[in-house]
Amino acid sequence: MANRKTSRTNPDSVDKYSVLLPTYNERENLPLIVWLLVKYFGESGYNYEIIVIDDGSPDGTLEVGEQLQKIYGEDKILLRPRAKKLGLGTAYIHGIKHATGNFIFIMDADLSHHPKFIPEFIQKQKEGDYDLVSGTRYRGNGGVYGWDLRRKLISRGANFLTQVLLRPGASDVTGSFRLYRKEVLERLMERCVSKGYVFQMEIIVRARQLGYSVGEVPISFVDRVYGESKLGGNEIVSFAKGLLTFFATT
Ligand code: GDD
Ligand code: MN
Repeated sequence: MANRKTSRTNPDSVDKYSVLLPTYNERENLPLIVWLLVKYFGESGYNYEIIVIDDGSPDGTLEVGEQLQKIYGEDKILLRPRAKKLGLGTAYIHGIKHATGNFIFIMDADLSHHPKFIPEFIQKQKEGDYDLVSGTRYRGNGGVYGWDLRRKLISRGANFLTQVLLRPGASDVTGSFRLYRKEVLERLMERCVSKGYVFQMEIIVRARQLGYSVGEVPISFVDRVYGESKLGGNEIVSFAKGLLTFFATT
């Protein structure tokens, strides 16, 4: 691809990365995460777009998105909002419909997932030609910072139970910082039944069942500074239900 050298696009790559950013009340976080994404994609030279899926946030997240669109351009920041809070899983399904990249990044908008890891995901994917690269808090230099004991136990517990019951072949099944080949994610989404947080676990288990290759990149997950987590008791119950349903049906 020698003729692409003059553009800012990485000369080695014709790939395009669509980042799906679901938001619910992330007014303070959105400008920072977008700025960091632009910075790290810019430095590495890969082609990208950021798709913000806001679920009618009452705090004005969408209006912030509109400002960012003016700064970075409508080709870089795509706003694909929905009228109300319809859940994380369906937000991704909605977002991917508008993606023009051949690869999809999924990450949180609250800075718990740092864009500095993006180049490592891309490198890892290329290294093993993986269908999916999953960020892991539970291997290598990965870790969790800022969570209380309760939250740590929930995450560890969910991962442990999944390992025992489903043998997913991935060390972090509940994390959501991942890179997928677009067609792989589409195929996985068609098969997924869950709507909420359990979606992350379901998708990686199904990936294994379908024989897709999974690479892992250790990441540090840092608890949010602004706003609050939307993970409530309901989500924990539905995770447990989802896990047991899988165990019973697969
Ligand atoms: N559009 C939309 N709709 N976005 C949502 C919704 C929703 O219903 N619920 C949450 N989000 C967005 C948040 O605004 C944030 O950008 C991201 O999804 C993650 O939500 P958080 O509320 O910050 O999640 P968390 O920090 O408690 O949970 C994280 O860790 C879990 C366990 O490790 C997430 O990464 C989860 O996906 C993960 O399972
Ligand atoms: Mn969070």
